[in-house]
Amino acid sequence: MRVLGIETSCDDTGVAIFDSDLGLLAHRLYSQTALHAEYGGVVPELASRDHIRKTLPLIRLALQEAGCSPRDLHGIAYTAGPGLAGALLVGASLGRSLAAAWGVPAVGVHHMEGHLLSPMLEPDPPGFPFLALLVSGGHTLLADVQGLGRYTILGESVDDAVGEAFDKTAKLLGLGYPGGPAIAHAARTGVPGRFRFPRPMTDTKKNRGPGPGLDFSFSGLKTAVVTAVRGQAITPQTVADIALAFEEAAVDVLAIKCTRALAETGAQRLVVAGGVSANQRLRERLRGLCEELGMRVYFPRPEFSTDNGAMIAYAGYLRLRAGQREPMSFGARPRWRIEELPAADAG
Ligand code: KG4
Ligand code: ZN
Repeated sequence: MRVLGIETSCDDTGVAIFDSDLGLLAHRLYSQTALHAEYGGVVPELASRDHIRKTLPLIRLALQEAGCSPRDLHGIAYTAGPGLAGALLVGASLGRSLAAAWGVPAVGVHHMEGHLLSPMLEPDPPGFPFLALLVSGGHTLLADVQGLGRYTILGESVDDAVGEAFDKTAKLLGLGYPGGPAIAHAARTGVPGRFRFPRPMTDTKKNRGPGPGLDFSFSGLKTAVVTAVRGQAITPQTVADIALAFEEAAVDVLAIKCTRALAETGAQRLVVAGGVSANQRLRERLRGLCEELGMRVYFPRPEFSTDNGAMIAYAGYLRLRAGQREPMSFGARPRWRIEELPAADAG
């Protein structure tokens, strides 16, 4: 089965063609970073308009790269949510219209399910079940994954997502957008130990009660950075030192929660995906942790950590193969919990 995937949920236009026998045949990405940079963050209406301009030309390029024509496709997958409403509607309307014109089925993919399954595009992919840490600009989730659509959320952020904390901290430090790569870059020249930030909600005693102690909070970390910045001469070295202390704190929190969730679930595999999983410090830390525990950790290639069309083509292929179809009428779901997805047989 050959599936075209379209991702337009935020500020990246991603298009890819996945073939169940041959693997990934083509993937193209157009990043809107330059467009939004001067505003210090994503401007939703500009994002939608740019997706309108870029998606069809990218689909043409992807078809060329794959050496195939629309007649060779068996289905179209597009990101149906969660994300920016206008941006999602561009992908949904194009995906649904092309499917009708080309006489193939269409399926609307959950953006976080796309991230969740992205390590399966790599050689030696993880099998079910596994523990998943999904870390992006909009979500911080720990999930017990038993199969396709069989997801139980074990913990999530009660305030800012971890990627959002990277972005806000970078803005505070004058490092620009997107913040994650900028913080990671600045942290490379940081002096360890000059600043130390809290590890919010990692104290188990404070988490007793209704929750299992696997929820996250990142807004306090951002406030700690605001306090540190106040009263400092903001030299490039101070920025680097704060960036390093922030990155260490964020990575520590994620690693502590993963350790706890692995112990509680007895999971033997850890899957880490979403934009923040591109972070090298996080990768090294979780690799070390899993090595100590004698278990495997799986990441997408860094290019597929952040938003891309390949993960949507792949998730769409699994959903289409399981018989899912979108009716002719379609919508987009700016808010959509991954637990609401139907369970399906992933083969
Ligand atoms: O998955 P993604 O591309 O889009 C969403 O679904 O949100 O994730 C984007 C987030 C942004 O907050 C960005 O700052 C963060 O991922 N990010 C990183 C890195 N690369 C991207 N955070 C930390 N380190 C990185 N290297
Ligand atoms: Zn994403």
